[in-house]
Amino acid sequence: MKLKIGVFGAGRGRMMVEVMSQHPDAELVAICDVNQNALNSCKDLAEKYDSHVALYTDFDKFIEHGLDGIVLANYADEHAPYAIKCLKAGINVVSEVLAVKNLEEAKELVTAVENSKAIYAYAENYCYFRSTLEMQRLYKQGDVGEFLHGEGEYVHFIPKTEWGNLTGQNNPNHWRNRTPATFYCTHSTGPLLTITGLRATSVVAMETNSIIGKEYGYKRGDGCVMICEMSNGGTAKFLPWCNFPRTPHAVWYSVYGTKGMMESARWGNTIDTVNIYKEEGQKLDTYVPTFDFETDLSKKISGHGGSDFYTMDYFIASILDREDKHKMIDVYQALDMTLIGTLGAESLKNNNAKIEIPDFRKK
Ligand SMILES: NC(=O)c1ccc[n+]([C@@H]2O[C@H](COP(=O)([O-])OP(=O)(O)OC[C@H]3O[C@@H](n4cnc5c(N)ncnc54)[C@H](O)[C@@H]3O)[C@@H](O)[C@H]2O)c1
Repeated sequence: MKLKIGVFGAGRGRMMVEVMSQHPDAELVAICDVNQNALNSCKDLAEKYDSHVALYTDFDKFIEHGLDGIVLANYADEHAPYAIKCLKAGINVVSEVLAVKNLEEAKELVTAVENSKAIYAYAENYCYFRSTLEMQRLYKQGDVGEFLHGEGEYVHFIPKTEWGNLTGQNNPNHWRNRTPATFYCTHSTGPLLTITGLRATSVVAMETNSIIGKEYGYKRGDGCVMICEMSNGGTAKFLPWCNFPRTPHAVWYSVYGTKGMMESARWGNTIDTVNIYKEEGQKLDTYVPTFDFETDLSKKISGHGGSDFYTMDYFIASILDREDKHKMIDVYQALDMTLIGTLGAESLKNNNAKIEIPDFRKK
């Protein structure tokens, strides 16, 4: 029997509609959004794949539809309260980025996960880029040795002409206008943690001036840098979402180890390319790796280098208890990725002080 899935948020949620409507183990049955145009557009998309969906504008009614799983693609700083509602109702939930907006929410989310039989998954798709997965494989097999330093960057310039569409027509209360410069961080942090299996234990953050921001109407710096101590004693540098002109956008991960160095290529679609240097034999290699797991559907889903399939598929894998379910990102990993930015904001507020990052696996 197919899992009955609902999608909350019909903007980014279109991608989830696309995947869930076609997934062999899922049936997309409901979509919820207050924006009627976005809702209708998602309904049309679902019907293209013969999915007949009920439409809701109220989450509390949507959650009573009789769902096996809910995808949260609502506002980026409002995921935790809705995830907690799902978990309390015993409904499996997968959350778009970010997991939480503060430490209180982190505690409440972990408590809800630990008290629920339902599954919580985190949809950090950049952890499923083919370059991220390949660098994880290379790191695990010891090709660059022990981690010394690593970096993660997500530089995504949004032209002024597109800013209104992305912020509810320049609503100053939209999350893209009011969250701190450190907030949207897991596209930068998530892959490095995934590659190395390490976590950050402390963070220091500094932000740039806000020159582009003055024109756009947001108050944070146009960019920001976060420096972390890592759980093995190494260091890391992250650029969370920075609105610096660079086209189309620049996403980059690097790892320096005791035996060599590896990095993804930086610009646009080159993200799929991996460069690795091994000190032994002084060998340099550049290639585009393939995914080690593909399906007919994964080959059709091109969003974010194909990674958008895997966030949804591993959520389904966990609900169905498939043997590859461990590839899903759980709540503790989600918090490891998210809290770097949450506590980075505390560092900004406190004259760039070093802030310890708690490990929610420890009681
Ligand atoms: N992983 C990625 O690559 C990626 C890319 C883009 C966006 N996102 C994430 O997707 C989410 C949505 O982003 P977006 O680009 O669609 O923009 P957005 O945040 O402006 O859109 C959210 C949508 O949810 C709806 N919504 C919010 N609260 C609601 C409520 N209480 N009831 C009904 N509807 C509600 C809004 O009407 C809107 O259509 C964000 O969390 C963002 O971080 C992720």
